[in-house]
This record gives sequence, structure tokens and C-alpha cells, in this order.
Amino acid sequence: MKRKLIGLLLCVAMTATMLAGCGSKGGDAPADAPAADTPAEAPAESGDDAEADAPAASGDVITIGFAQVGHESDWRTASTKSCQDVFSAENGYDLQFVDCDNDSAVQLEAVRGFIEQDVDYIIIDPIVSTGWDTVLTECEDAGIPVIVIDRTIDDSDKYVSWVGSNFKTEGLAAGEWLKAYAAEKGINEINALVIEGSTGASATIGRTEGFKEIADREGWTIVDSQSGDFTQDGGAEVMESYCKSYEGKFNVVVCQNDNEAFGAMDAMKQAGISYGVEGDVILISFDACTAGLEFVKSGDINADFECNPLAAPFVEEVIKTLASGGTPEKEVYMEEHWFVNEDILSTIEVNGETHNLTVVTDDIIAAQY
Ligand code: AHR
Repeated sequence: MKRKLIGLLLCVAMTATMLAGCGSKGGDAPADAPAADTPAEAPAESGDDAEADAPAASGDVITIGFAQVGHESDWRTASTKSCQDVFSAENGYDLQFVDCDNDSAVQLEAVRGFIEQDVDYIIIDPIVSTGWDTVLTECEDAGIPVIVIDRTIDDSDKYVSWVGSNFKTEGLAAGEWLKAYAAEKGINEINALVIEGSTGASATIGRTEGFKEIADREGWTIVDSQSGDFTQDGGAEVMESYCKSYEGKFNVVVCQNDNEAFGAMDAMKQAGISYGVEGDVILISFDACTAGLEFVKSGDINADFECNPLAAPFVEEVIKTLASGGTPEKEVYMEEHWFVNEDILSTIEVNGETHNLTVVTDDIIAAQY
């Protein structure tokens, strides 16, 4: 697709978005948009049926630059694969992929490189939520639509669309589940250790805020909260020091992703501390990738709150909308599930809404990414 056409469509789309009153994150949704948090149904994957519909059906190869956070977790691997599968050469795309290795300076450089290359679209999964306005203005000036996935950008609205998860709801869900679970088990006192994700990432900020809100409301103690950088090594290192400093003083560990939970389990094992359904420490995780769910099924992790990494099909829908002159939704929330080991609670209330809890089975694990 030719750049000028994309630039024109972007201007039209952005103007329409502004006229519709949803130009900024957190602004009022247009009257016909789904409620802000309503999860969107997954679009059909690119394939034979979708081919006639694909933006590349005209024969032009569509060039996409993707500035990915890094390769820190199983979740990240699934996210990268989702983009590589959807934006493949056989689907008519030329995907320029940059693994930014969790370095914000590298990520800004990658985006500027995509502008230099004159790509048709840029996808960014922002390592941190701030520091984006200048480079997004450069993208806008170059007429290149930017689509943000997963983590959010807080200091600029110069992107066409964002596709991802509500991290604060994930944190609230973990807290509400813990409250209901503790009541079922007759546990009266909660002393929690939190292993946070990477500092400055909206996934960390949202999950921390959500869980803390419930902890404050319920009068729980958060004994300590430190970053494990969303990695297994980080989780192990933080948990090792927690075990030394707080032995006998905690009964809950909240890891903000599965890989940190794997590291935390290793460290607790080393320290002779039991965890999970049969143990002394309740272990909570986020992401619910395959390996995480295996540990939920075995009872090592008590509950795992999904973060859906499969954004690419939704991003392709955004591109199709732009290519046909339409206005994509500014925010697209993906569907997510909450997984547990024990069949003792079937639902929890979060933000006044009832959500199902899913007991993990082999079939569920087999179907997960
Ligand atoms: O931004 C999403 C988070 O980043 C995932 O929970 C984590 O695994 C990843 O590294």
C-alpha cells in the first residue's frame, strides 16, 4: 500500500476519532462503542477464507515494524509468535521485528528506524508507559499509523488504536479471589509478599494498584513488594531474599507473571517453605501460559490470572479498518480467563461484575498458548 494513501487515511481516521470524542485514553467512549472494558471476540485468523479480505489482497506487500519489549517470559514468546504468524509473508506482510531486550532507548531507536524505512504501519508494545509523545509525533508527521499492543502509553494519544488487557482488573481479580478463598479456608490473616514486574511497565502498575486496593480495603499486610523484572531469575532472586528476611512472616506470595512464579517456587523449595494447595503459602500468578497452567493443575500455583498475548489478529482487524478508510476502535480489550486448582469457588465479583473461575484440566492446558 502506498504511503500517501495510508497517511491520508490516518488523518481521516484520527480526525474522525477526535470528532467522536474518544481521542484520549480514558475519555468518553463514542455512543456506539462497546463499554470500555468489554472484551472483544477474537477475529478469524488470516487464512483462505480471510484472504479476500486481507489488506494485502490487492497484491501489495504491507510492511509492518514491530518494536517488541523483549523475550523475558513465556508470555512474551507467545506474543511474538502471534505477530509472526499473522503478519507472515504468506499472508502478504513484510514484518520488521525488533526485540528491544527491555531497553527503552533501544525501543525508541527501533521506532525511529521504522520511520526511516518508511514502513506502512508500526506496532509498539511499550516497555514503559511514559516518554512517548515526541516519537509518536514523529510517526504522525511521517503519516505512519501506530498501533499499541499489550502495555499502555500514558503520556500521548498519538496512536490509532490499542489492543490489550486491563491490568488493574487483573490485580483486583487476584485480590478478590484471595479474599473469597481465604474465607472458604478459614484463613483470617493475610501477610503477602509481592514480586512485581518491570518497573514503569503498565502491566506492573495496574496489577500492583489492583491488588493493593483490595489489600487496603481488607486490612491485609503487604510485607514487601519488589521488582522481579518479569523473569524467572528475577523471581528467584527476590524470593530468595524474601525467604531470608521474612521467614515465618508471610502466607501469600503474589508473582506478577508465571516466570517469576517459577523462580519463586525454586527459591521457596530451596528454603524449605511449602506452597500451593497443600502448602503453607498461597501462590498467585498472572499470565496463565501453558507452563503456568501446568503448575496450577499440579496444585503448586493456587490461582493464575490470564493476560492474553494473542493481540495480532485484533491488530490485523485494525489495519483492515484503516485500509478501507474506516475508524478503528481506540481501545480493544481481549477476553481473558481466571484459572484455579480447587473446585471450591465457581465465581468471584470484581468491580461489581460476576466472573467465572475455571478449574484447570488437561484439555484446557492443551488448548492454551
Ligand atoms: O506486559 C505483559 C507482561 O509482560 C506479561 O505479564 C509478562 O509475562 C510480560 O513479560
